[in-house]
Amino acid sequence: MAARKEAKQALVVGASRGIGLGLTREFLRRGWHVTATVRSAISGGGLENYYDQLTLDTLDINNLHMVEAFMARMKGRIFDVVVLNAGIYGPRDKGVNEATQEEISHLMMTNAISPVRLAERLVPLLRPETGVLAFMSSVLGSLEVNANDASPLYAASKAMLNRLTRAFAAKYDYLTIVNLHPGWVRTDMGGPNATLDVDSSAKGMADVLVGRAGSGGHEFLDYRGKIIPW
Ligand SMILES: NC(=O)c1ccc[n+]([C@@H]2O[C@H](COP(=O)([O-])OP(=O)(O)OC[C@H]3O[C@@H](n4cnc5c(N)ncnc54)[C@H](OP(=O)(O)O)[C@@H]3O)[C@@H](O)[C@H]2O)c1
Repeated sequence: MAARKEAKQALVVGASRGIGLGLTREFLRRGWHVTATVRSAISGGGLENYYDQLTLDTLDINNLHMVEAFMARMKGRIFDVVVLNAGIYGPRDKGVNEATQEEISHLMMTNAISPVRLAERLVPLLRPETGVLAFMSSVLGSLEVNANDASPLYAASKAMLNRLTRAFAAKYDYLTIVNLHPGWVRTDMGGPNATLDVDSSAKGMADVLVGRAGSGGHEFLDYRGKIIPW
């Protein structure tokens, strides 16, 4: 009898709503097993038919105790795709002089430092040769594209993420790493006027990630696979 083909494994960190929830749904639809982390609860639908393919876990990426406990629960797991999606917009419309120190620290910690710290812990869980590690960045973090400095603090947090992931990628030069721009997506963060729906963004990014398997290197790509300059 032919051996049963094992389902591919995805880990989506920050999956309670928006793009993370969309990516979770997209990989489930493709028949993958998804481990999805939330801070408290999922606030969106579409997972009802997939509970046998889904493992839900709890994680606040800024909480080191939770990270320790999460890593202990993940012991022995191997992932084909890991997406570090969790992020915040931070003090909307405030510049460096208006935002408080706490707001700025929380933004930089959430969008740049914690994802890279967590990625370091997850490296041994990536499938050798073909595993893909993705950081959710933004085109606003591109110094070249976002030349007029829209949303300076948020943009700086994603530029910091890009910068730190360049150093991370140099250290782990045998991995395949992608920094993603999901498009401008209609979520709580993107708002109702955004040009793209969650499902189209998630489908595009899943195609990009699956297509990168085994390719090596570190690219900054949008949801259509188009290269974005750093
Ligand atoms: N929407 C866009 O147009 C757009 C464009 C470019 C880049 N992005 C990036 O895409 C990612 C997702 O954005 P979105 O639009 O889906 O935003 P969203 O609707 O606001 O969702 C943000 C997600 O991140 C989670 N999160 C926030 N802080 C966390 C923490 N400390 N630990 C764990 N999870 C945390 C949230 O969990 P809770 O539900 O617990 O708060 C939620 O699941 C972000 O990194 C964002 O910067 C979005």
